[in-house]
Amino acid sequence: MILLSALLYSAPVTLSLDLTQPGVKVSPNLYGLMTEEINYSYDGGLYGELVRNRAFRNDPEKPANWTPVGPGSEIALEKTGGVNANLPVSLRVRGAVANEGYWGIPVRPGTAYQLYLWAKSAENGTINASLESPDGTVFAQTRVDGVTSGWKKLSATLTTSSGIAATKEARLVLRTGSQPVSLSLVSLFPPTYKDRPNGLRPDLMQMLVDMRPKFLRFPGGNYLEGNTFKDRFPWKKTLGPLEDRPGHQGTWGYRSTDGMGMMEFLLWCEDMGAKPLLGVFAGYVLNKDYVKAGTELNGFVQDSLDQIEYIIGDPRRTKWGARRAKDGHPKPFPLECVEVGNEDGFDDSGSYEGRFVQFYDAIKKKYPHLKVISTTGGKDSLGVRFPITQRRPDLWDEHYYSEAWDMMASATKYDHYDRKGPKVFVGEWAAHDTIAPWAAGAQAGPTPNMKCTLGDAAFMTGLERNSDVVEMACYAPLLVNANPGGRQWSLNLIGYDALNVFGSPSYYAQKLFSENLGDVTVPLQLAAVPTQTKGNQTLPGIFASATRDTKSKVIYLKIVNALDTPQTVNLDLKGAQILGEGTITVLSGDLKAMNTIAEPKKIAPETSALPTGPLTLKPHSVNVLKLPTGK
Ligand code: AHR
Repeated sequence: MILLSALLYSAPVTLSLDLTQPGVKVSPNLYGLMTEEINYSYDGGLYGELVRNRAFRNDPEKPANWTPVGPGSEIALEKTGGVNANLPVSLRVRGAVANEGYWGIPVRPGTAYQLYLWAKSAENGTINASLESPDGTVFAQTRVDGVTSGWKKLSATLTTSSGIAATKEARLVLRTGSQPVSLSLVSLFPPTYKDRPNGLRPDLMQMLVDMRPKFLRFPGGNYLEGNTFKDRFPWKKTLGPLEDRPGHQGTWGYRSTDGMGMMEFLLWCEDMGAKPLLGVFAGYVLNKDYVKAGTELNGFVQDSLDQIEYIIGDPRRTKWGARRAKDGHPKPFPLECVEVGNEDGFDDSGSYEGRFVQFYDAIKKKYPHLKVISTTGGKDSLGVRFPITQRRPDLWDEHYYSEAWDMMASATKYDHYDRKGPKVFVGEWAAHDTIAPWAAGAQAGPTPNMKCTLGDAAFMTGLERNSDVVEMACYAPLLVNANPGGRQWSLNLIGYDALNVFGSPSYYAQKLFSENLGDVTVPLQLAAVPTQTKGNQTLPGIFASATRDTKSKVIYLKIVNALDTPQTVNLDLKGAQILGEGTITVLSGDLKAMNTIAEPKKIAPETSALPTGPLTLKPHSVNVLKLPTGK
């Protein structure tokens, strides 16, 4: 058992901020987000679609997530005569059929739900659609007219009355009558963020927007690579109308609809005010299959150039820029960074350097202004593997999945980092409690507890102090559907079910760090810091960083008290004085405490005026002080 114990130490800590000394520039892109299709992050998560297995391809043997309703109803998969090559499977229904959604379909009062479906039937007809509880209470109903003998895309709106109570215990029921009807691509959308068609869930988007991320790393993670070559993220097949997207097998045990495609990722970035950080497939997959550098790799390199062109190419002069315009967005997106592959240090063949060079040269030749990131070379918790020597990556991506204790130990790591090497992108990181997040299953999570948050926040103080070398950082994974069956990774920043969302304490720590950040660091010293011990190891019990906004002259001071005792801190400001009222925001709780759907804000930040007397930090707390120092 890991012991995080504090030595009781009553003397106050002195924290000195020296504004007479220059700090370093804080990277304007320091805090961002990382995302991939894991834990039902998009399907059953951020992507608004409410129908599960809408194209009937999740299970080749049976219509998973669809059930016949009422006596005499029959349903069966049809594997021939589909709408097109991308929608080869349909569902033959006689009577009525229900879709259960992703652990329920949520309904809210006075809300319009947009239904689309493809249908055909030997006889012209009508489908009655409704949103109902399993016991038959109807929340909304409508008629879908126009079913004919050929495939047709039909639509209708289901509107709930204002009197219903919000529930996630609803299902979509389609009644076809005694005549068999074939259905394909059945889709139901609630109102989406900014009302975008094929858009995103508003409550989750608001949580993300509130974090003020500067970039979004997508599409993975392992999801970029795929378990085999055919499972890699197929960006070209994720464009355009949904009936043109076949979907693909994801890496985390379920099929992706690819409703969340390239354009949706880019609009997601735009709606958050974040820049896209694109991961391109680099010829290596998770089963360790790879393509050697050379002519065999050329097709993959070209594919990545096409992808970059889709994001930033001229809409009139380039093929893929024109395609982006056709997809509704003539204006290029603000791409600055491209990452080649994901965790290619696991490729024991050592082929990454050659592959990286080929991608690097091609990208730099066509887009010299883009920064190219390598996935190996840094000194992260994966170990130093295959450092790139033939080219100098603009950044290298380091990943840390470590116990809270080790994450705290890493808080000083970048204090001693090589300033002459490439800049660092901490592209995935998270502290865990006792069991690694890939091994924990249902024994931990699905989101971090306060102990993890202390490790996370201590680590972030190190990122901020060293923001001259650490340009960007993003926690992973971001999202988890909290239902059993929805989690492939045990610790994730934000949890949800069909109706509710909650932020973990680590979410709040991230948000606090991101929204309270200046543009230069303030040199800081801690004295008389009590220690904490684990076995024969010792670490400081207090971690801190400070930045200052040079325009507003506000100092943002972050102090983490990892100890299980309150701690008094004497603030000593050199070269400035506090003018006006400062504030302190505190996030604290028991080490094992966590937020849940039932208790979403058990641990949440609380802001108050800064006390005039001595400052006493709560045990196990993350504290953000806002200190105004002038006009
Ligand atoms: O974040 C979960 C997984 O951890 C990512 O897909 C992968 O890049 C890393 O190993």
